[in-house]
Amino acid sequence: MQCDLKDNQGEFLLKQIAMQDFHFARARSLLNNAEEIFDQKAVDAAVRRVAATLNDRFGNPDDAAFPLVLGVMGGAVVFTGQLLPQLSFPLEFDYIHVSRYGDDDQGGRVVWKVIPRPNVAGRTIIVLDDILDEGETLAHVKQRLLDMGAAEVIITVFADKTIKRSKPVKADIVGLTIPDKFVVGFGMDVYGYWRNLPGLWAIRQEDLKAR
Ligand code: IMP
Ligand code: MG
Repeated sequence: MQCDLKDNQGEFLLKQIAMQDFHFARARSLLNNAEEIFDQKAVDAAVRRVAATLNDRFGNPDDAAFPLVLGVMGGAVVFTGQLLPQLSFPLEFDYIHVSRYGDDDQGGRVVWKVIPRPNVAGRTIIVLDDILDEGETLAHVKQRLLDMGAAEVIITVFADKTIKRSKPVKADIVGLTIPDKFVVGFGMDVYGYWRNLPGLWAIRQEDLKAR
């Protein structure tokens, strides 16, 4: 019995090592073929511009605005983390978790993992997200917040992708307008990889499964 367990453990560990080797090699190869389209300096400047716009809007001491900032996990985690310390007005922070189905490179059904709390009712909400692509996700988020009684929803995205189709929702504040390419970095991933890059990299078209 004990021997069986040990054998299974050995097999499991070998599989784990093979799996890690596979992901390490695939992540490296995707980035080797990618092209940096905005470097860290450009990304940081974009975050500062977004912060300045929000500080202009909410920094007036005569205006007692106390917005609720909602980060859309997981993609907005880096944008949120870098933007929040640059905001100079009183605010409340919370997060929601919603994604297009799976971690594929092509969007699907919108899936909620953490829904908004009832405290959104009557509030001005600043929604922070990584990227506005086809707009399905943020249209869905905005509608849900309005349905729950939010007074105003300000869509703030780090990147707005220029696509040919019209989008069901418009961003109110945009960090960078980017070409119609699949990008990684600054919170955005391809197959789960490279959310940690400080710049924005475009993944080569041939390296994407279904595009
Ligand atoms: P939308 O519903 O098409 O606007 O998709 C928005 C979501 O899809 C984003 O919040 C990202 O999670 C993901 N997404 C869309 N385009 C990209 C991209 O170029 N790179 C990484 N993720 C993307
Ligand atoms: Mg997202």
